[in-house]
Amino acid sequence: MELNDKIRPDLKDFPPYSAHTSPDTLKEQFGLSVEEIIKLDANENPYGCPPRVVQALSKFKSYGVYPDASQLELRRRISDYIGVDPERIVIGAGSDQLIDLIIRLMIKPGDGIINLPPTFGMYSFYARLAGAKIIEIKRDANFQVNNAEIEASIEPETRLIFVANPNNPTGNLISKQGIKELLQTGLAVVVDEAYYEFSGQTVMDWIGQYDNLIVLRSFSKWAGLAGLRVGYGVFPATLADYMMRIKDPYSVNAAAQVAVIEALESKAYLLNQVRDIINERQRLFDQLKRIEGIEPYPSDANFILCDCSRHNAPLIVNELKNRGILVRWFDAPKLRQCIRISIGRPEQNDILVESIKEILGEVKPW
Ligand SMILES: Cc1ncc(COP(=O)(O)O)c(C=O)c1O
Repeated sequence: MELNDKIRPDLKDFPPYSAHTSPDTLKEQFGLSVEEIIKLDANENPYGCPPRVVQALSKFKSYGVYPDASQLELRRRISDYIGVDPERIVIGAGSDQLIDLIIRLMIKPGDGIINLPPTFGMYSFYARLAGAKIIEIKRDANFQVNNAEIEASIEPETRLIFVANPNNPTGNLISKQGIKELLQTGLAVVVDEAYYEFSGQTVMDWIGQYDNLIVLRSFSKWAGLAGLRVGYGVFPATLADYMMRIKDPYSVNAAAQVAVIEALESKAYLLNQVRDIINERQRLFDQLKRIEGIEPYPSDANFILCDCSRHNAPLIVNELKNRGILVRWFDAPKLRQCIRISIGRPEQNDILVESIKEILGEVKPW
């Protein structure tokens, strides 16, 4: 029996998400652990997760029992952290899962979502999986969003717009006024604040004022929990209720729930690291700017996108990889001549900068 014939025809040429290098690949390719590699390709916290998390997980005894399906304690803790009613909070296995669920809840095949490339790849990934019509409104040369063009593109079946703020991989913010205008279109507007702790800009205070605003956040970036997969969304009350109905009950596992509670108990410790990373972002930006042919874009997140169009970006990425340093390259319009570098620890950033200088000394410009 040929099962290939039974696959949805519209998924036959579905492009896989090209993820950063996984820990297993690192082990195989380099014979090194994640700790030994200078891993600046996935915007993780370079200091890892807080010690309280490690201690609590080593003492945790209830791995044999299903976790709380409604994540009550976790929602209460997150509510204390962000100052929003727990009933509005929905927790997912990474904010990725919430992107998927929002699309499943609102989009039937043929309905439209507005995507603002270059941006985070999972919006179009899940939209395509849901059979959505993806309306792409490209950002300008400085990666700013064109609200007039967005408004003009809206059709009766358009439901949703995703805006990452700050945007990944470009690092820039859209103004609060810009978001207000998007909300005034009446579409559901998902403001993805995965990097909020690094930017300090939020529209969380508008929750309750707009019934078409959804805010997403993550514990992967600032809190060092990327491997445990926890993100949350803040929704209009009725939408939160629908989200909880369609969400699979146990996607936020027991270890993840323990870890988030301990990470929030370590808030001061983590926010200190965030401050260090923000300082390091400026120092790394200044150093990159001094390298001929490397043009870093200003960033409000924990990474810096660099234009390397006077050189060969994939070649730089490969040469860095050969030295055990991982950075990110995207095979996408406007990004092929760029590399994205996550902010590492100071000593890692120093090695990165010296390595780029060395590589550019060795490699002829294109
Ligand atoms: C803008 C943005 N949103 C969401 C995510 C996904 O985060 P999580 O690990 O919580 O699924 C990422 C991760 O890179 C991101 O850059």
